[in-house]
Amino acid sequence: MNYIGSKYSLRYFLEEGILKNVNSDCKVFCDVFAGTGVVGTHFKQKGFKIIANDIQYYSFCLNRALVGISQVPAFDGVLDDGKIVPTTLICDATDIVLEYLNTLDGRSGFIYRNYCPGGTEGTEFKRQYFSDENGRRCDAIRMQIENWWQAGKLTEDEYFYLLASLIDAADRVANTASVYGAFLKHVKKSAMKPLQLKRLGIVESDEDHEVHNVNGQALVERLSCDVLYMDPPYNHRQYCANYHVLETIARYDDPNLKGVTGLRPQDDQKSDFCMKRRALPAFEEMVRKTSAQYVFLSYNSEGIMGKDEILQAMGQYGEADLMTRDYQRFRADVDRENRVYKADQVQEYLFCLNKQ
Ligand SMILES: C[S@@+](CC[C@H](N)C(=O)[O-])C[C@H]1O[C@@H](n2cnc3c(N)ncnc32)[C@H](O)[C@@H]1O
Repeated sequence: MNYIGSKYSLRYFLEEGILKNVNSDCKVFCDVFAGTGVVGTHFKQKGFKIIANDIQYYSFCLNRALVGISQVPAFDGVLDDGKIVPTTLICDATDIVLEYLNTLDGRSGFIYRNYCPGGTEGTEFKRQYFSDENGRRCDAIRMQIENWWQAGKLTEDEYFYLLASLIDAADRVANTASVYGAFLKHVKKSAMKPLQLKRLGIVESDEDHEVHNVNGQALVERLSCDVLYMDPPYNHRQYCANYHVLETIARYDDPNLKGVTGLRPQDDQKSDFCMKRRALPAFEEMVRKTSAQYVFLSYNSEGIMGKDEILQAMGQYGEADLMTRDYQRFRADVDRENRVYKADQVQEYLFCLNKQ
């Protein structure tokens, strides 16, 4: 998923920085701002027990599937009644269920009625987050998953597997520049492709992983872990506003939408880390309250907390250190004839603390 602040491309930098600093008897790794789940999944693969958490429910669904599931689900409850007959020569349970969902007839539910041009035609706010066809596909799949769940035909792992796959599929065909703060006026090429559920990469594991959906600031003092990894937002852009459509697909709770962008109510999901005056005190409190021996913070040189103030806050509790990695970020500046690309140098930070 193309997610703001995703650590997918930095996962080996994190692995190197974290593993060289912690001792080998560390077993429990907490990813308290888990986003897409890529960091938790990476350290799950390394043999840690993972505790993942995020304040957003779509992120909880992704983590509940990628971190929380350790064996590919069998979907016995859905397949046992024999009503689903594969249309092609496939025999894998997951593939059969995904194919069934991918070929359902579209339905005009909340997504179509609120985020698609056809569904919002003639209303105060015409929106184009998805093509009409994809909005109706998304509704049909979301309703079927919920019906199976309510009828007791899915295990919890299976329910979240399908929700995570749907969130990922919807994001791939969203008609946005990347986040859901606005939709595009024209329909971009990827948004014209049909929404298709895909298999998730499940990492097999013998550990009993935990996934939470709460404010991490309140969670840290209740958790027992060896490593606390923190990857909070770096700037004022709230994730609840940038990913509100994914939140609604995940919850499917008929929210009252506001304005042209169709924002859902989100006051209880606003993060202190997006506010200049609150970020550093919130960070310092989490470092103070955690029982983890090691605390790591991912951040960058453009964040609202400064490098020196972070080191000073961490330094109150033990030996703090900083690893950096440079990368070139390319920004498109449009002039009348050509796009001119400007490269800026940004530094990615990994702060480390060995608590005393
Ligand atoms: C930089 S992103 C994390 C990206 C993640 N490491 C990845 O690779 O996908 C920050 C995440 O923190 C979450 N978040 C913000 N404030 C939070 C809070 N107080 N408690 C828990 N999660 C929070 C956001 O929803 C967002 O998913």
